[in-house]
Amino acid sequence: IKKIAVFTSGGDAPGMNACIRAVVRTGIYYGCEVIGIKQGYQGMIDKNFFPMNRHSVSNIMQLGGTILKTARCLEFKTEEGQQKAYDNLKEAGIDALVAIGGDGTFTGAERLSRNFNIPVMCVPGTIDNDLYGTDFTLGFDTATNTVIDAIDKIRDTAESHDRLFFIEVMGRDAGCIALRAGIAGGAEAIMLPEKETAIDDLINTLEAGAKNDKSSSIVIIAEGDKNGGAYNVAQKVKEKIDYFDTKVTILGHLQRGGSPSSFDRILGSRMGFAAVKAILRGETRQMVGLRGNNISFTDLEQSISGHEFKLEEDLMEMSTILA
Ligand code: F6P
Repeated sequence: IKKIAVFTSGGDAPGMNACIRAVVRTGIYYGCEVIGIKQGYQGMIDKNFFPMNRHSVSNIMQLGGTILKTARCLEFKTEEGQQKAYDNLKEAGIDALVAIGGDGTFTGAERLSRNFNIPVMCVPGTIDNDLYGTDFTLGFDTATNTVIDAIDKIRDTAESHDRLFFIEVMGRDAGCIALRAGIAGGAEAIMLPEKETAIDDLINTLEAGAKNDKSSSIVIIAEGDKNGGAYNVAQKVKEKIDYFDTKVTILGHLQRGGSPSSFDRILGSRMGFAAVKAILRGETRQMVGLRGNNISFTDLEQSISGHEFKLEEDLMEMSTILA
């Protein structure tokens, strides 16, 4: 392997830049050329390639987002699109890929390696922490800290005005951010896609709090919660009881941005380093992960099909008791 290309695809996540930096510097250290592909699969189709050196990745560790940019690419989903992407990679002399992203990114990398036999290594980068084969994905820690910061600020107003706040956080299919940020922010209730909460149960919790002289309450709702998000939950609660002064805050994309935490910087560095070393050992079609603070490898197909929305039941139980 002489020329490794790196790209990011899908939703951006803090820590991706630390990973890009590690891929570039590890590749160069071991005598490879490293090529950056801008805008993921779209960039492969458009030949958006550029050579990277140690300086291309100077001072990027602390930046959120991805310096390689990211895009959703419909053309790559077609066989013609994949052929075009591969032809361009071949023409550029690229003989291995490091893909950083979520399951859509992995599916694309799997197709390329299966159909054209190009070695690929995938790195899990998504704030949702919903990929199989790793305890943590890049960006999850930073996003959770961002949400906690927002909860703390909203708590000031909730407390000052004796209000009930419904805060919606990201997590289309997974409630990892909601659960952990909810615990760390001392939320009175947490609602997740993995575990349906009946509105009557939520009301019971809120009323029990009010009877115990709680003057403010915060409910954290993952966007994929089965009740339909924070506005719908607030509406359903208001239809049944109307004495709470209720407000809704949707945190949205601010959760995806910002300077990565030390955890995500180190995780990105470890995963990028491990991905390049694995490619140079001749490995392919794997996802680099972290299991119990050790770097691990999971078969790429398994990491795609084995979606792991692991509701941490012990944390859920603890959060209800501590709230
Ligand atoms: O990065 C994952 C995620 O944050 C999901 O939780 C969310 O539903 C989605 O991205 C939104 O992505 P976008 O609006 O950028 O397409």
